[in-house]
Amino acid sequence: MSNVSVIILAAGQGSRMKSSLPKVLHPIAGKALLQHVIDTAYQLNAAKIIGVYGHGGDIVPKTINDDNINWVVQEEQLGTGHAVDQAMPELKDNETALILYGDVPLIKTETLKHLIEQAKDDFALLTVYLDDPAGYGRIVRNKAGQVERIVEHKDASETEKQITEINTGILAVNAGELRSWLKRLDNSNAQGEYYLTDVIAMAVNDGMAIKTVHPESEEEVLGVNSRLQLAELESFYQLSNAQGLMAQGVTVIDPARLDIRGNVTVGNDVTLDINVILEGDVVIGDNVRVGANCVIKDATIDSGVVIQPMCHIEQAQIGAGSKVGPFARIRPGTKLSSETHVGNFVEIKNANIDKGSKINHLSYIGDTDMGKGVNIGAGTITCNYDGANKFRTEIGDNAFIGSDTQLIAPVKVGDGATIGAGSTITKDAPENELTLSRSKQTSIKGWKRPTKSRK
Ligand code: UD1
Ligand code: CA
Repeated sequence: MSNVSVIILAAGQGSRMKSSLPKVLHPIAGKALLQHVIDTAYQLNAAKIIGVYGHGGDIVPKTINDDNINWVVQEEQLGTGHAVDQAMPELKDNETALILYGDVPLIKTETLKHLIEQAKDDFALLTVYLDDPAGYGRIVRNKAGQVERIVEHKDASETEKQITEINTGILAVNAGELRSWLKRLDNSNAQGEYYLTDVIAMAVNDGMAIKTVHPESEEEVLGVNSRLQLAELESFYQLSNAQGLMAQGVTVIDPARLDIRGNVTVGNDVTLDINVILEGDVVIGDNVRVGANCVIKDATIDSGVVIQPMCHIEQAQIGAGSKVGPFARIRPGTKLSSETHVGNFVEIKNANIDKGSKINHLSYIGDTDMGKGVNIGAGTITCNYDGANKFRTEIGDNAFIGSDTQLIAPVKVGDGATIGAGSTITKDAPENELTLSRSKQTSIKGWKRPTKSRK
């Protein structure tokens, strides 16, 4: 929609948040409120996106850090009409201006497309009916049911306060007309502000029809003014994410206890247990089971993988049919091939683990290339760091590393090699041989354990 430009108001302080962070930078699903709105604006393929910032200085544009946004500053917050007016020099007369709000994060692209369609020759206004309309601007209609004007709650008469159709603030209209109306605004009202809402009566006077459009759900147009409202929208958003996954064939054990903070792609018959957090870009194949309390971020989980409870996986790939956890930490740069086993209290970082290898208990494997069918005994540590540099460990196919072994990198263990338990391996271990570095076991005859002297 290249004949549409989007203005996003984000200059307000949000004092009820009681925060040093501007309100629009608080997150829902790990993403700033304003970023949600910007992402929706991008879906509309708008000619321009104009962000109006003010309170908190340029921390808003700096944090959003997007060169495609045209930022304009509203030095003083003199009202929504004044805010929109700051953006008008960025718009051409023949385009449609769409007004959005940085603190109304869940507005849907489909609703906005519908609104824009209605703005072709008319004034399109997004309104909604609320059981409790207190605080909102009310939509005043004439006897024929046509919109005449909007009255703000603080300026409304007792009769007008009974109106339950409210102004969401979101509207679309020809930019040239809007420009001329904004020039004529004054601030003689209860709040001494330049109200954007006053342009509706001006449009009606100019003979324009006001077309109202409604969102699919109320939550789309709810704003965030407090931490409570932030939490409420977060729950709503997460619940709709969970419903979306269930519609794609995922079993979500409890939709109220799943959090998605990014983009998730799923195969068939995936099961997600309670308190799973999926962040960034997560790709999950068919028949994957994720146990309770797992955090998975920017990772690919291939089909048939079982992740037991309490695992943390980040920037990693888990190969088909592998078993991970409980209590495993898979760190960035890890690639587990198919049918690997990673058990409890195992940390793996920047390592390639080939098919069928097992690291079942209490180990640290970092900067390592491990072959197929390797067995790593409990308590094995790759000593990859000398305090300044990192070194790699290589372990060949079918090697067997005894428990409590330290592999001092750089070091190489050959194919089929066996390392005796409790060894500190500083030199390469040849293939198919037993290598061990511990001293021989001896027993001292007649040795007495020291005893405490009685006083
Ligand atoms: C506004 C509407 C009201 C509507 C309600 C929906 C007006 C006059 N009233 O009221 O009809 O029901 O929204 O939530 O428009 N902002 C700026 N600069 C300003 C003033 C506001 O950027 O100078 C931004 C705020 O950051 C906020 C938004 O505009 O995101 C709305 O402003 P707010 O003061 O909250 O308007 P309301 O009184 O809620
Ligand atoms: Ca508000």
